[in-house]
Amino acid sequence: MLWTRCSRGGPVRLREATERDIPAILALISEYAGHNLLLARTEASLRECLADFGVAEVEGEVVGCSALSELGPGLGEIRSLAVRADMSNRGIGRAIVEHQMGLAWRREFVEVLALTRRVSLFEKLGFHITRRERFLEKLATDCEACPLSLCCDETAVHWMPPEALAAARELTATDSFRERRSSQRSRNLRPPLPAGVLLG
Ligand SMILES: CC(C)(COP(=O)(O)OP(=O)(O)OC[C@H]1O[C@@H](n2cnc3c(N)ncnc32)[C@H](O)[C@@H]1OP(=O)(O)O)[C@@H](O)C(=O)NCCC(=O)NCCS
Repeated sequence: MLWTRCSRGGPVRLREATERDIPAILALISEYAGHNLLLARTEASLRECLADFGVAEVEGEVVGCSALSELGPGLGEIRSLAVRADMSNRGIGRAIVEHQMGLAWRREFVEVLALTRRVSLFEKLGFHITRRERFLEKLATDCEACPLSLCCDETAVHWMPPEALAAARELTATDSFRERRSSQRSRNLRPPLPAGVLLG
């Protein structure tokens, strides 16, 4: 759990979602799913992946949410990012994504993907546009369920923690990122945190 102050507003509490947040998360997602901005979720599907979800709270009310899911080994996806319309443009969306970048780093993801129409929001946080075709197989189930699957206008953006990026540049068959992390850990070294990324 983490308290932060967003760029254009007051304090925001970022924390893991619990069962009690389910109605608020469903309401947030449903509102935007109705405008085809997010993939709709049922209560059952939300319950299944509730552990991936975090929420942003202002004055005790849930005003934003997002999930960080594992799409495959070392590959995370930020999904279901939503901020209540009356709380938008206060930096809450940015705070949520930054928080999840910190979580991704802690979970040792080597790459984090997002499919979005809000490319600039992600680019400002260090994400880069990538080819969505790289992830088609992993995203197949979601894409099948999406009403826009045949005319998708989302852009794939990805972020790699700096240490993963450095490792990828030098990657050899015997010198993987995960091996490096475990050898760093055994030598009790902490790799540098991505700048601006908050850890809860
Ligand atoms: C996208 C969304 C999460 C942004 O939340 P927010 O709290 O309003 O965003 P922030 O105030 O943190 O803005 C972060 C940055 O993104 C930019 N941004 C915000 N909304 C944007 C938009 N609609 N289009 C382009 N850029 C946008 C802002 O300029 C801001 O940059 P800055 O901090 O340098 O000024 C929110 O508008 C939302 O829930 N939209 C509907 C659902 C959706 O589209 N989710 C994204 C799916 S990946």
